Amino acid sequence: MGDLTTLYKAVFPLPDLDATSALGARIAAQLGVGDTVALQGDLGAGKTTLARAILTALGVDEAVPSPTFTLVQGYDTPRLSISHFDLYRLKSPREMDELGLEEALETGAALIEWPERAEGRLPADRLTVELNLQDYGRRATLSGPARWQALT
Ligand SMILES: Nc1ncnc2c1ncn2[C@@H]1O[C@H](COP(=O)(O)OP(=O)(O)OP(=O)(O)O)[C@@H](O)[C@H]1O
Ligand SMILES: [Mg+2]
Repeated sequence: MGDLTTLYKAVFPLPDLDATSALGARIAAQLGVGDTVALQGDLGAGKTTLARAILTALGVDEAVPSPTFTLVQGYDTPRLSISHFDLYRLKSPREMDELGLEEALETGAALIEWPERAEGRLPADRLTVELNLQDYGRRATLSGPARWQALT
């Protein structure tokens, strides 16, 4: 993102769904109240799959639909509440003000697909996960403030 606060950076190959589950568990173990995880990547890159993996690791056993039309879906897990956003259909960054991200972060954490749609409206200390699907397979590039170093 070319952000000067980016101090942690790591690449995780995601050859299969088990690898995505493992990465989801790692991220889940570090998540606390006030954290935002931005899930970037093209259509089908695996953003929802990783969000589900994080939620599963936190103990969510209900179905996790893609919140494409509702824009946000909330979950209460034993340790903290999670708001799962899919901003693909956000019409403008200003529309973010109505979705309650700030309130959600007061009591829980947020997972945000298509964070680019909310340009300038996301916490600066977020963990960014960029998912890529290439000829040789999927991979995740993680970046964020130094505290996320605990992920590696
Ligand atoms: N690591 C992986 N290995 C193999 N298949 C995967 C992996 N991650 C995701 N997939 C598969 O890729 C497909 C698309 O994944 P997913 O819906 O998570 O993408 P997305 O980035 O959320 O897409 P969209 O932008 O449409 O929301 C699904 O069928 C999923 O099972
Ligand atoms: Mg998705």
